[in-house]
Amino acid sequence: MASLPARLNQVSQVYLVAKDYDAQGRQMLAQYNSKQVTAEIIERDDGYIATGSEPGLYFREYKDWSPLERRAIAYANGRVLDIGCGAGRHSLYLQRKGFVVTSIDRSPGAIKVCELRGVKNALVRSVSQLDKFKPASFDTILMFGNNFGLFASAKGVRTILKKMSRITSESGRIIAAIRNPYMTRDENHLQYHQLNKRRGRMGGQIRMRVRFEKSIGPWFDYLLVSPEELQSLLVDTDWRVERFIDGKKVSYVAVLVKNRSRLSPVKKGGQQSQRQSC
Ligand SMILES: C[S@@+](CC[C@H](N)C(=O)[O-])C[C@H]1O[C@@H](n2cnc3c(N)ncnc32)[C@H](O)[C@@H]1O
Repeated sequence: MASLPARLNQVSQVYLVAKDYDAQGRQMLAQYNSKQVTAEIIERDDGYIATGSEPGLYFREYKDWSPLERRAIAYANGRVLDIGCGAGRHSLYLQRKGFVVTSIDRSPGAIKVCELRGVKNALVRSVSQLDKFKPASFDTILMFGNNFGLFASAKGVRTILKKMSRITSESGRIIAAIRNPYMTRDENHLQYHQLNKRRGRMGGQIRMRVRFEKSIGPWFDYLLVSPEELQSLLVDTDWRVERFIDGKKVSYVAVLVKNRSRLSPVKKGGQQSQRQSC
């Protein structure tokens, strides 16, 4: 049997390797290189562990996307920013259609895969760094693959929407794929929503991390909301829901447009003109 110091040394070596934070990027690179489909492992802060997105999802071609995604991408218009682009499946599709696309992801591994697959303008950049773009740079912001989650919290929604307002044109839109956390009967999830509420968080504010082989990503918050919660998060922002697609299902899409009633000049008597949302 190995002496104690030697065993400790082994443990610390394993730990050093495991401290590689880009678990999701490593998974995409491994999948790109081996062409083998691997599952994403998600760990939640209550100890719940599950596989995440369907294996192979990030590399799928348009014909294999869900009907929801195929309907939603039809709302893309003008210059596109693909946030949390992953392996670039949506960017590549739009690029082939002639759109000018900028693709960002905080994962260096994901951006490497994008480059290898031919995504033209891929940057390692987080959703929190949108201020690096010039005003009115984009007409459409894509948040596909449930990437509404990247808003992270109610506060994050307000902060990031403000940045998105600045970097989009007046006719700018956000197409966000969202998961409704409440359409479940799984006790694990129902108890987690209660736990979140007790600690002053939104029910669907998931604290999680992604694991792949020996890599463990950092803990981060990922926000799942119902259509009703989304509507209330948008109050007093520059954005309104123009339409929901499959709004009564677990996975749905919201198309947000600029709330012109807020952006229009203040009328006599201090009242802003009101415009009914769809
Ligand atoms: C669920 S995957 C979706 C990938 C792609 N949109 C798709 O549908 O195939 C989420 C992606 O968001 C990226 N991501 C996570 N946090 C991010 C952040 N704060 N800023 C930018 N990208 C982020 C991850 O690295 C990952 O590639």
